Amino acid sequence: MTEKIYKRFPLRMVCGIPLMEPIAQNWKKIEEFQARPDDLLIATYPKAGTTWMQEIVDLINNEGDLEKARRAPFYVRIPFLELSSSISSIPAMEILETSPSPRTIKTHLPFQLVPKSFWKLNCKTIYVARNAKDSVVSFYFFDKMNSMQPEPGPWHEYLQNFMEEKLSWGSWYDHVRGYWDEKDKHRILYMFYEDIKEDPAREIRKVMQFLEKDLGEEVLKKIVHSTTFQVMKENPMANGSTVSSDIFDESISPFMRKGEVGNWKQHFTVAQNEAFDADYQRKMAGTTLAFQTQIYPAVTKERAEKGP
Ligand code: A3P
Repeated sequence: MTEKIYKRFPLRMVCGIPLMEPIAQNWKKIEEFQARPDDLLIATYPKAGTTWMQEIVDLINNEGDLEKARRAPFYVRIPFLELSSSISSIPAMEILETSPSPRTIKTHLPFQLVPKSFWKLNCKTIYVARNAKDSVVSFYFFDKMNSMQPEPGPWHEYLQNFMEEKLSWGSWYDHVRGYWDEKDKHRILYMFYEDIKEDPAREIRKVMQFLEKDLGEEVLKKIVHSTTFQVMKENPMANGSTVSSDIFDESISPFMRKGEVGNWKQHFTVAQNEAFDADYQRKMAGTTLAFQTQIYPAVTKERAEKGP
C-alpha cells in the first residue's frame, strides 16, 4: 500500500503570517529566491481567480495558440513559488531555477513576504483581487476538498476564522490592501475578478497591454472564449482534474466550482452578513480600494447610472 504524502498540514507563523507547514519549513530558501528581471509574477489571495489569470497570461504568451496552452497542467506551466507543484514532490523553486526565461510564477504571499529580489529587479506583477465574501465562500469549499489545507470545520467557524485573519496566507484585508498601497511604486497591474467577469475582453486587453503584446482582436476573442468558466471547466489542463484525488477530492467539491460573482448570498445568513459588513467597515477604513459584491447585466447598470 502506498502511503499518502499529502495530509492536512498545520499552519505555522512566518513573519506574522500563518502558512502551511511545508512552506514554513522551506521559508529561508523561499525568502532568498532569486528573481530574474523578465519574470512575471501572478499574485493573489487564495481563490481570487489565480488559475483564471494563469490561463489568460499563458494564452497571451502563446499568441492565443490553444495547443501550446494545453501542453501541461496549469501548475506545471506556471509554478507555485512557495509550494511544490501539486503532483510532484519537487519544490517549485528547484523547477524554476532550471526553467528558461521568461518565467511566469504564481504566489499567494502577501506583498511584504514576496522575495525581495522581485521588487529590487522591478519585475512585472499581475495582482488579482476578489471581493471578500465570494473569496471566503470559495476558500471554504476549496479547503473541504483540498487535503493539504487544514480542516475547515463548520462554515460559521470558518467565516469567523477568515474575519480573525487566521486562515492560510493570513489576512485577506491586509493582502488586498498591501498590494493596492504598493501598486504605484512598482510595476503592478491590479485587477479585479468581478471586472474580468463583467467584461472579459476589456480586462484581457489590459493584461495584453501590460505584457506589451498586441495580438489583435481575433486572438483576443479566442482568448476570451477559451478562458470562460465553462471552457476552462472542460479543459483538463486548467480544471484541476490532473491533480491526484488524494489531494483534490472533487467528489466533495469541484475545483472549478461556480465561477460567479455573488455566490456568497447562498451561504451567508442575514446575521452573518451584517456582522461581516460591520467588521469589514472597521478593517477597510481609510482605503480607496472598493469591490463589487454583485454585478448587474449591462442594461440594468446603464439604467442605474442614469437614474430613474
Ligand atoms: P468559486 O469557488 O467561487 O467557483 P483560484 O484559481 O485562485 O483558486 O480561484 C478559484 C476560483 O476562481 C473558483 O471560484 C473558480 O471557480 C473560479 N474560476 C476559475 N476559472 C474561472 C473562470 N474562467 N471564470 C470565472 N471564475 C473562474
